[in-house]
Amino acid sequence: VTDLPRQPIPTMVNAFDPNTIDELDDELGDTIRRRDKVLGPGYRLFYRRPLEVVASSGCHLTARDGSDYLDVYNNVPSVGHAHPRVVEAVNRQMGLLNTNTRYVHKPLVDYAERLVATFPAELTRATFTCTGSEANDLAFRIARYETGREGIIVTAGAYHGLTNTVASFSPSLGPQSPLGPNVRLIAAPDALRSPTDLTTTMKARVEQAISDLERHGYGLAALYADSIFSSDGVFADPPGFLAGMLDAVHAAGGLYVADEVQPGFGRTGENWWGFQRHGIVPDMVTIGKPMGNGLPIAGLVLREHVAQSFGRDVRYFNTFGGNSVSIAAAHAVLDVIEDEGLIAHTALIGRRLREGISAIVGESSRVAEVRGAGLFLGVDLVKDRESLEPDRELASTIVNELYDRRVLISASGPGGNVLKIRPPLVFDSADSDRFLDALADVAGSVLT
Ligand SMILES: Cc1ncc(COP(=O)(O)O)c(C=O)c1O
Repeated sequence: VTDLPRQPIPTMVNAFDPNTIDELDDELGDTIRRRDKVLGPGYRLFYRRPLEVVASSGCHLTARDGSDYLDVYNNVPSVGHAHPRVVEAVNRQMGLLNTNTRYVHKPLVDYAERLVATFPAELTRATFTCTGSEANDLAFRIARYETGREGIIVTAGAYHGLTNTVASFSPSLGPQSPLGPNVRLIAAPDALRSPTDLTTTMKARVEQAISDLERHGYGLAALYADSIFSSDGVFADPPGFLAGMLDAVHAAGGLYVADEVQPGFGRTGENWWGFQRHGIVPDMVTIGKPMGNGLPIAGLVLREHVAQSFGRDVRYFNTFGGNSVSIAAAHAVLDVIEDEGLIAHTALIGRRLREGISAIVGESSRVAEVRGAGLFLGVDLVKDRESLEPDRELASTIVNELYDRRVLISASGPGGNVLKIRPPLVFDSADSDRFLDALADVAGSVLT
């Protein structure tokens, strides 16, 4: 059914083990027990000792006991936790009016114009949702309607969201979450483990998946690709390789959906959008997470021709998607990115951070690669450099050792072995120094 054996992908890296709850302090243990009793059963907590947070600012989180944690992980508050301009914009709008897209409200139109202006000229229209999952779900409805076909291609460790449809093409949810019969997986662009010309290789993988979809009568509706392959283990280089995938998709009359929920809004540095590093123009782009700095707002940006018949024939209304308060937050986010020069900052501080990390861990036989773009970095940990066998335990040890030094990161990839370093974009030199000091300390004790 797929071009890859279905690997037993762990459902979540760096999860708290509920069997160790008795080792926590009484108050924390008590809150977690109450949480486990009342919340739905699917929730998970991070870290060996979960973190209880009460306040935040910039790249810093304050724990219940008043201690300061350095946030080197969260990409939603990308202009900084509790940024005063976002707080002010949201408060002001909430006190004035919060309405939906069935009323004329200029800030919505202003925002849509501002947003599409950050995209290549071919992408001209914006539709608003509340979550990235909804945006990916809508993209599939459109792709199916426009192409009259059903097939979807994603990478083997992809996560695109939680609706029934989108979960059916999110293999990182693990073997218990069924994939659709119309879904084909291609291997992620891991140039370390299969060193090839990635543009050609990825194109060939997509072509093979398309043939299989056609043979089974599905045909290709859409390929979805996270432009930095976050849950596959962070793959950014070499710039340009997405072009092969796009060519194969277009040759088969399918649509290319760039999932920018993770890399979007400047995270990869130098550009607004991760796909721009690769010099391509997708047919649809899904966006979310940092868009409202924590207020739920996400969306879909489209080429003019893509949704013509869908837009004509199918009504779209989303009660909260594009509401005035979320739009106010989204405006403030763009203001901060522009006024604080955050995209250039991300490129600069990201480069320095990567060099700093490489200087500390780059020589270790347990580190196969330090990679990424802007402020989305991955450190690929292995048992040894010959076998390149992923070392999940080592990643977990480093994540939790850093946590003991009040520094927050996590891990990603199907092997759970890639340190995921992805701070808010306002990460500054002092934050970077503090992170590198903690990493050097941990590396000294656990890396050989
Ligand atoms: C690449 C990617 N796409 C889509 C989503 C889904 O977004 P949301 O959680 O807002 O539904 C996520 C969430 O983690 C994501 O990482």
